[in-house]
Formats: sequence, structure tokens, C-alpha cells
Amino acid sequence: MNRITRRNFLRAALAATGSVAVSTPLQAMTRPQLPSEVTFKHGVASGDPLQDAVILWTRATPAAATAPSGPTRVTWELAADNQFSNVLRRGEAETDLARDYTVKIDVQGLRPNTEYYYRFVGASEQSPVGRAKTLPQAGVEQVKLAVFSCSNYPAGYFNAYQLAATSDDWDAVLHLGDYIYEYGSGGYATERAAEIGRALPEDSNGELYTLADYRKRYALYRTDAGLQALHAAAPFIAVWDDHEISNDIWKAGAENHGEDEGDFFARRAAAVQAYYEWLPIRPPRGERNPQIYRSFRFGDLLDLHMLDTRVIGRDQQLEFKRYLDSEGGFDSRTFGADLTDPARTLLGEAQRQWLQETLTASTGHWQLLGQQVLMGKMHLPVEMMTSFYRGGSRDTSAELIGLKAASLQGKLLSDSQRARLQQVVPYNLDAWDGYAVEREALYAQVKASGKNLVVVAGDTHNAWYNHLKDAKGQMVGVEFATPSVTSPGMETYLKMDRKAAADMAAGMSLLIDELQYCNLHQRGYMALTFRRDAVQAEWKYVDNIDSPEFVEVARHSVTHQLA
Ligand SMILES: [Fe+2]
Repeated sequence: MNRITRRNFLRAALAATGSVAVSTPLQAMTRPQLPSEVTFKHGVASGDPLQDAVILWTRATPAAATAPSGPTRVTWELAADNQFSNVLRRGEAETDLARDYTVKIDVQGLRPNTEYYYRFVGASEQSPVGRAKTLPQAGVEQVKLAVFSCSNYPAGYFNAYQLAATSDDWDAVLHLGDYIYEYGSGGYATERAAEIGRALPEDSNGELYTLADYRKRYALYRTDAGLQALHAAAPFIAVWDDHEISNDIWKAGAENHGEDEGDFFARRAAAVQAYYEWLPIRPPRGERNPQIYRSFRFGDLLDLHMLDTRVIGRDQQLEFKRYLDSEGGFDSRTFGADLTDPARTLLGEAQRQWLQETLTASTGHWQLLGQQVLMGKMHLPVEMMTSFYRGGSRDTSAELIGLKAASLQGKLLSDSQRARLQQVVPYNLDAWDGYAVEREALYAQVKASGKNLVVVAGDTHNAWYNHLKDAKGQMVGVEFATPSVTSPGMETYLKMDRKAAADMAAGMSLLIDELQYCNLHQRGYMALTFRRDAVQAEWKYVDNIDSPEFVEVARHSVTHQLA
């Protein structure tokens, strides 16, 4: 006779629904099956789609009038249509304070390349309806992705998310990090928060350190209508950048983590836990493991590899100002030696090994790296950099841009003019430019394998299109970088108005050989469309982030055609 243990019963129940309710502890099956009095004020989300599975997410917040601190139970439904006339799966999930009342269901046994609709049901409230989509198995001719980074609540309304949510044909949304920011009131990009109605509320207005701090910040961000709408519209595939934990994080510290701010690794663990709770993600090595890198296969058209260039492996950033002397001179010899130290790593040994093996084994027509920081060589004349660090002279930049334009038009430059243009340094040492040897090794591998490489990046708050070239100047792939949803970009750092920012963008595209396009002052997102013969990137910009009323104002589109 079969003894029905609770464990067996649970296994049977899961097999019947074809799902793994991540948030359901074993004892849940002995509780009454009725859903609880809950609210769904943080919306719904789906994520990490596979050919046969997708994560469904909500937060089942206890209704204040009932048990505010006990566990809550909800029902979930997955249907073929958004009216739920054909419900394909139904199940129950329990959650509690131990996971901040978030619910994650990993629904299994689904069909590839198929749209599904889902919702959660409480005792007297239903969640909004979300749309999910599984990945294609084979034979797919087009993949359409929306790419985002850097949504900063006090800096403005998430209109870029809202704009993308009006399209209903995304295969997935890639989020490249800075989904939240860790600062308190008065911190980075909070200057206009009160004026535009985006002040941090009293329960989340300090810098984030503890699990409770990080959870409250996610809860706040998830009240934004644009973000809720986009989560409901398409599955997310997300990685963190630095601000999900702390600014300019590296493997053993962060710029924004001082010695008086407690244990760095305790803070990091709290941030990682809250991220995994609040994002519709299937952590590849468990809900406490910060190794977030993982791959997704869109039929035979596209392999997507999501990387972590921040948290687990990165050596500490170099700082340009450490190589300047008191007269403004630049110690290029020491800088060069440090920069080309072959031991410097952005990925760390384990992830680099994994990427190498994964790229070798991947057979997709396109190989897409979803990651945080710019990979292209963004080298500017030393003179321009030293002038920025001395307080900035627009005249120096204009002069150098003029010289470069003249040389591109075939005008002969004097030796000293040529030297001014040829002495260049990377301007952002927090990006791949600060880890040039590892980048070159990656390029060599891609080149040798003959793969079609596309890289996407966030982090800078501005839009970029780079030709990726190895040390010999040979083309290895292309890079498309998405502007921020709200965080201020270069126009703010360099105090430029629209006209000055547009001039600077044109000038930088002239000065930097790999750079084909940039936009230094507008907020928005990036749409990528992959086909066999080409990939198209389209940057879409909104007119303002000061109010939830907005219009799309501009687009810029480029197509990278395969030879
Ligand atoms: Fe950012």
C-alpha cells in the first residue's frame, strides 16, 4: 500500500498543476485552501521565460483589516486568452513575511513560443492580468526585445516603461540594472523629487542597508504605473547593475559603502535577497547565491547571455585622478601599466570560464551579451580629460573636435596637432575600458569562433552605438547601449543645455573612432529586432519625466547588416 506522506502529496499536487510554487512551504498543503484577504497593489510580473516554463510573480499583501502578519494564500490562474475563458492551469500558493509576501510560481510544461495570460486571486480581490510568453524552440525568424536600465524614482516618472508597455509584441524585456537606487533623500538625483511629486516616503527616505530597507524601496518603485504596466505586458529577463546594492560596487566593496556603514557582505546579501524576492527571476544557483549569470535560447536565431560585470568578480576600479599631478600633468606610464595588468578582471574567473564554455557551445545565429557597462573603446584625447578634471574647458573640446573634423576632411595637421589627437585615454574606467586585457581576450574568442556578436549595455544613462574592434582594428561585433529611464546623463554632469549636448554628441562621435552614434541628453529605452540578416536598434525618447503625462518625441534607428 502506498503511504501518503505530506511530501508525496505535495509532489503529486505539483505534478498535477505542472508548476513549482517557489513560495509554498511544505506545511502549506495542510492549511485551508481558501485564499486570504490580500491586496495586489504592486501588480504582477512574469520573467525568465524558457521554452516550457515561465516565472509568474505577485505580492499578496495582507489586507490591513485581517491578519497583518500571518501567512497569506492566493490562487493563480494561467489562461490561453486574456478573458480567462480557457484556463489551462490553476494552483495555490502561500507566502509570508519571510519572503516579504512575494509570490513566485515557476509554471512548467508549457508550449514554446506561446503567449499566456495570468492573474492571482485573493478572497475578495483579483490582481491585474499579465501577459507572459515562452521562448521559441526553433524556426523563429524574428525576436523583438525592449532594453532598459537606470530607473531612479526621485529623478522622475517611469514614462519610458509606460511607452514600451503600449506595444504588445515584445518577446521579452531586458533589464540591465539600476532597477532601484540605494540613496536616501538628499542623495544622488533627488534635487527635484519634491517639486515633481516623487519624494521618497518617510518609511524609505534613508540610504538602504538592511533587508527591510531594500524591500521597502522595491515596494515603492513597484507603485509606479509605468513599471507595473510594463511588467504586466511582457516577461522580464533582468540582471542587477551597481545601485541594486551600492554605487560602483566591485567584488569586495563599493564607492558608496564607507567603513562606517557596516559589513559590506551583510549589506550585499540583504540586497541580493530583496532583488530575488521582488524580481520575476529564476536565480540560477539558488535564492541566496549572488551568481546571477545565465543564458536564454530564442530558437536557433539568438542566444542571450546575461552577465554580471559588477558584483561577484570585478577588481576595484582604477581612478583617473590618481594619475594626475598637482600641475595637471598625467602619469601615462604608470596608468598604462596598471590598465594593462593582465590579472585585472571584470567577470571574475568562474564567470569568465562559464562564458567561454557557453559561447563555444552556443549555436544560435546571433550571440547577445546582456550586461551593464559599455564595452566599446571610448577613448578621448588626454588634453580633454585633464581639462575636464581641472574644472572643464568647453574651448579645449571644441578645438580638438575641430582638429579631428579637419583631419577627417583630409586636411594636413601639424605634428603637434596630430599629437593632441593621438594621445588618448579611456574616459570611463568603471566600464570595460578599465579592464582592457580581459576585453581583448573575449574579442579574440569571438573572432576565432566566427560568431555574430551583439552587446547591450546600460549604466551610463545615455544612448550609444559602437563598432567593437579588437586591438588590430578588426570588427568583432556591435554594441547598443540604452539610455536611462530617468537617471540624469552627461548633460547634467557637464551642465549642458540641449544644444550643447547635441553638439557634444556629434563631437564625440567624431573624436571616438568606434562610436557611431550617441545621445547625451534624452531619457527613454531601446528596441532591438533580430532577423537572420540584420539587427535593428531603435532608441525611443520621451519628452519629459516630470509628470506621468508625456509623449514620445524622437526616435533614432540603426541597422547592422550582416555581410
Ligand atoms: Fe544608473
